[in-house]
Formats: sequence, structure tokens, C-alpha cells
Amino acid sequence: MSLGVAVIGTGVMGAEHARVLREETPGAHLVGVYDADAARARAAAAGTVVFPDPHSLIASDRVDAIVVSSPDATHATLSRTCIELGKPVLCEKPLASSAAEALTVVEAEIAHGRRLIQVGYMRRFDRGYQEMKRVREAGGIGQPVLLHNIHRNARAPEWFTGQMSITNSFVHEIDISRWLLGSEMTSVQIAAGPNEDPLMITMQTEKGEIVSTEIFMNATYGYHVHAELIGREGTVALGPPSFTITNRNGAGGVSYPENWVPRFQDAYRRQMSQWVKAASGGTATGASAWDGYVASAIAEQVTEALVSRRATTLNYGRRPAFYA
Ligand code: NAI
Repeated sequence: MSLGVAVIGTGVMGAEHARVLREETPGAHLVGVYDADAARARAAAAGTVVFPDPHSLIASDRVDAIVVSSPDATHATLSRTCIELGKPVLCEKPLASSAAEALTVVEAEIAHGRRLIQVGYMRRFDRGYQEMKRVREAGGIGQPVLLHNIHRNARAPEWFTGQMSITNSFVHEIDISRWLLGSEMTSVQIAAGPNEDPLMITMQTEKGEIVSTEIFMNATYGYHVHAELIGREGTVALGPPSFTITNRNGAGGVSYPENWVPRFQDAYRRQMSQWVKAASGGTATGASAWDGYVASAIAEQVTEALVSRRATTLNYGRRPAFYA
């Protein structure tokens, strides 16, 4: 049976999720959408239902599962409503706009007694990151000691602050670093360039591994995400982000996409397929509500470290048995 999915919020991300559901997701179909902007909703619905509000969408008998891709501030409330009605959710990152609010979703899910929330940390479905994790787990580089992450955007608006780069971009590095290493983060130090761009964030894990991350929002040449994991016996890194090498005007090399949509298109598609399988009765493979809470909690404490410029101990509690 095909899973009926509806999308709340059809901007850049939601329109892409709706398209992936319509065109590239076996086992599911798009029932309809809701967006505060009716014209956007109609465009993304592509002939399916445009719901008048998010609550009628969530409650509809035709909707088995929901993708939440509206603005951050709406995520926690919508996720809790879906939990109340027992419907699976793929919620875009971040799970909530604060750690305390994210924890309310975790608590609602535990009280409900069944895992219903997956957070859209889609890098876990990127083939390169999956290969890095496989190599580490197979002992291919020996004991990991260092993870270098690079997250560069072509450009950000002038009003974009260092705090925004932490809550929008660095949250991805938090989630992928915990997932790649299978480690929890215990401390953080941060250095900031002029106007807080770039940021250099160094975390340490409970096992003593060092996680260094460059966040540079105005790197100009393109959108570039890179990671290299260093072990006692070798290293493993992401390959170039393009399938081809271009030679022109006496120089040659790879090309970089303008933003995250083309770079992670394959990961978004694979995330959707896996989520549909899990929502149809399979096993969840993506980031849980707990992982979503941890990313938000660490991001909040890194933001405080940006203000104080002090080395800070990270505290976010222990994983509940429900998420083992
Ligand atoms: P966007 O601004 O392009 O789209 C947001 C849409 O939500 C707009 O169409 C707007 O009209 C609609 N909207 C506003 N208030 C609403 C409400 N109360 N209910 C329903 N719809 C409402 O933003 P974008 O870039 O699509 O981001 C959406 C979410 O996806 C954000 O939470 C963002 O953090 C996340 N995101 C995730 C990425 C990833 O790689 N996983 C990348 C970029 C964004």
C-alpha cells in the first residue's frame, strides 16, 4: 500500500520534498500541502490538495505521515500535534527553536510510547559520509583521533550573524560528527574572524577525539562541504562534490554548486525513501528526536561560547533508554 504524505511549508526545502515525493519515492504519494503563502502551496501541490491550515492536513484520513518544512519556530508545535494523532513526521532541522522546546518533543514522543519523529539531518544519507562511517566502523583507519569539517557557503545576507551560522549551518556538523564518530561531545572552544565570519569551532569528545569545524558563510566561490576523519592508521575523506572535471583557460578542476539543494539532492531523496519505509512499518534509520534535541542543545551552548569566548563544558544529559 502506498503511504499518503503531506508537506507543511513549501518554500525552497518543502517544494523539493514535495517534488521528490511526487517523482522519486516508491511506496509513497503526495496527498497535498499547506503553506502560509497560498500561491506557493498551489505551485508545490501540482494538482494535489491545498489544505486550508496545518491542523486539517495533519488530521486528514488520507494523510498517513507528514513532512514539516515550515520555518524553525513552527517545528516543535507541529511535531507534537502529529505525535498526539500518532502520525510519523520527517521534521526539517532544527527540531525546535530552542533546546528546551526540543525537549518537549522528546518528552511527548516518550509519553506516546512509539518513535514517530525523524529530524532532517540528511547528511546521514549522503553516500560519502556513509562510506566514511563504514570505513571507521570496519577499523579501516584505526582509532579515530581527529575530524576536520569544512562548511562554506558562497555568500550570506549582510544581516546574517555568527549565531545564525551556528544554528543554521553548524547544527549539521554537530549531528554528522556525533554520527560519524559514534561519540558524544564534552567541550567546545570558538574563535571568530571579523564580523564573526569565519568561525573556527573546536569540540572534544568523551573519547578525547578532536572535532574541528570551519564555518565560512562568505567563501564566494560556491557551496562547499568537506570532512576528513583521521585515525591512528590512516585517513578517510569525502571525495570531490562533482562527477566531472572541467578544463578551461589554462586551469582545471571540479565545480561547486551554488547551495545545498544540488549538493545534497541524492541525500534528500535517499532520506525520503528510507523515512517512507520506516513510516510504513520499517525501522527508523535517521536522526531521532533525541538527536535533534542534542544538536539544538549543543548549538545553544556553542552560541553562548561565541559570546563569552571561553572554553565551555557541554552538558546535554544522557540518551534515554527509549532511544537506545
Ligand atoms: P523558505 O523560507 O524557503 O520556506 C519556508 C516556507 O514556509 C515559505 O514558503 C513560507 O511561506 C512558509 N511558512 C511560513 N510560515 C508558515 C507557517 N506558519 N505554516 C506553514 N508554512 C509557513 O525556507 P527553507 O529554506 O525552505 O527552510 C525551511 C526549513 O528547512 C527551515 O526550518 C530550515 O532550517 C530547514 N532547512 C533545512 C536544510 C537542510 O539541508 N536539511 C537546508 C535549508 C533549510
